[in-house]
Amino acid sequence: MERILEAAENYAKSVLGLDGSGHDWWHIYRVNKLACTIAREEGANLFICSLAALLHDVADEKLNGSEEEGIQKVNQWMNENEVPAEVCSQVLNIISTMSFKGGNKVPMSSLEGKVVQDADRLDAMGAIGIARTFVYSGHIGQLIYDPSIQVRNSMTKEEYRNGRSTAVNHFYEKLLKLKNGMNTSYGKQLAARRHEEMEHFLEVFFKEWEGRR
Ligand code: ADP
Ligand code: NI
Repeated sequence: MERILEAAENYAKSVLGLDGSGHDWWHIYRVNKLACTIAREEGANLFICSLAALLHDVADEKLNGSEEEGIQKVNQWMNENEVPAEVCSQVLNIISTMSFKGGNKVPMSSLEGKVVQDADRLDAMGAIGIARTFVYSGHIGQLIYDPSIQVRNSMTKEEYRNGRSTAVNHFYEKLLKLKNGMNTSYGKQLAARRHEEMEHFLEVFFKEWEGRR
């Protein structure tokens, strides 16, 4: 098990790199730590949680031709590394259910999936989430904020990925909604703190925007 986790870590490092697209190796590092912490609290299988956390973004559609190709890549890697078949199918199930896709979500069925999904969502929240949002915004060339661009309340997957928005609008379009979608009770506790952190940030942001602070 240790051998597989170490190999998965090296694989994720080699595939993901260090660019500003929001899926760098350190995102995986943090999600893995969080997933292990939540798994211990919730009594989930640590090996499955950790393996799924390490591999979850290798299959991201932004890094592959399609979602299916990404899943296929993870499947092939697990076969080559002799991951037991039942572990394989659980991990694939988790990874294919995981991406948020602008709110069109499918519920996670296994406890391990709930844990890893919570860990991934938590990394989009709080101080880290704020930092990632601005790095990603710079990466795609969108503004910090523009009062003339309206917050979009519902959107298709296509609009979520390609529509015009701002870093600050992204909090209202996605990040502030994450708290209500948490699966596990420990995940909910952590999300409550990270949510407050973001609310505080926005409060200060709008005061500073108007020169009131
Ligand atoms: P996920 O794989 O969880 O859907 P994404 O790939 O959409 O995450 O995003 C990776 C990181 O970039 C996250 O922290 C997310 O909040 C941020 N991000 C994604 N889309 C936007 C956007 N349109 N504007 C600002 N930040 C974004
Ligand atoms: Ni992720």
